[in-house]
Amino acid sequence: MAEPAPEVVLRADGVTAGYGGPPIIEDVSLTVLAGKITAIVGPNGAGKSTLLKALSGVLKVSRGEVHVRGGKTTNIPPEKLVRHGLGYVPQVSNIFPDLTVRENLEMGAFTRRRGTGARIDELCELFPDLAISLRRRAGMLSGGQRSMLAMARALMLEPAVMLLDEPSAGLAPLLQSALWEQIEKIAATGVGICVVEQNTRRTLRHAHWGYILVLGRNRLDGPAQELLHDDSVVELYVGRMS
Ligand SMILES: Nc1ncnc2c1ncn2[C@@H]1O[C@H](COP(=O)(O)OP(=O)(O)OP(=O)(O)O)[C@@H](O)[C@H]1O
Ligand SMILES: [Mg+2]
Repeated sequence: MAEPAPEVVLRADGVTAGYGGPPIIEDVSLTVLAGKITAIVGPNGAGKSTLLKALSGVLKVSRGEVHVRGGKTTNIPPEKLVRHGLGYVPQVSNIFPDLTVRENLEMGAFTRRRGTGARIDELCELFPDLAISLRRRAGMLSGGQRSMLAMARALMLEPAVMLLDEPSAGLAPLLQSALWEQIEKIAATGVGICVVEQNTRRTLRHAHWGYILVLGRNRLDGPAQELLHDDSVVELYVGRMS
């Protein structure tokens, strides 16, 4: 018998958003499945962060719709969206450097009534590096550990889908590999991952499905392994097809 299709945990249909002027992203549609890594790659300034802000309620969606686990979430503010199952790790300022690692995780659980300690224990198994640093100030962590902490924080509320904005930015290649291993482990627990990155090849190697965002529009999508060998991806980057 065929395996049941994974649940669609996030769907965007024709999403348009910006900062008050002309739209920065226009008519973007995408699907994220439970337990899979969906990558959105594109050059600097393509609108990747803007797209994640629109999906996570940080930025107003002017046209189109967003659904989390089948429920419409368009323009629901971020603090309410966590209850619908969406976790968001922004590109910058995603941890509190003056708090300890444990306090950061507790902050991530702000709407959780009970089980905070047990959830921290679970996440420590998933992120052994954090387990040994629980009492350290988050500002003292390495870049790689900070990225892990930011993800662990978002996982405190057991989201169905997690949006990651350039988690590997600024990390040395070896640390990037460790980070991708962690992201794959998180997906294996059933969480749908939607990750945006500038590093196209490395990201697509780890993803299930890829979207190529250029000048605020989705120009191409497909199975990540196929995109890796698709010459039109390179052409989109250098602008010959735009
Ligand atoms: N707060 C803002 N106000 C106005 N314009 C903005 C703001 N943030 C970003 N932009 C503009 O939106 C466009 C897309 O920016 P965005 O940060 O979404 O790109 P990106 O794909 O995430 O780039 P990068 O890979 O460098 O992070 C850029 O032209 C940028 O100048
Ligand atoms: Mg960005």
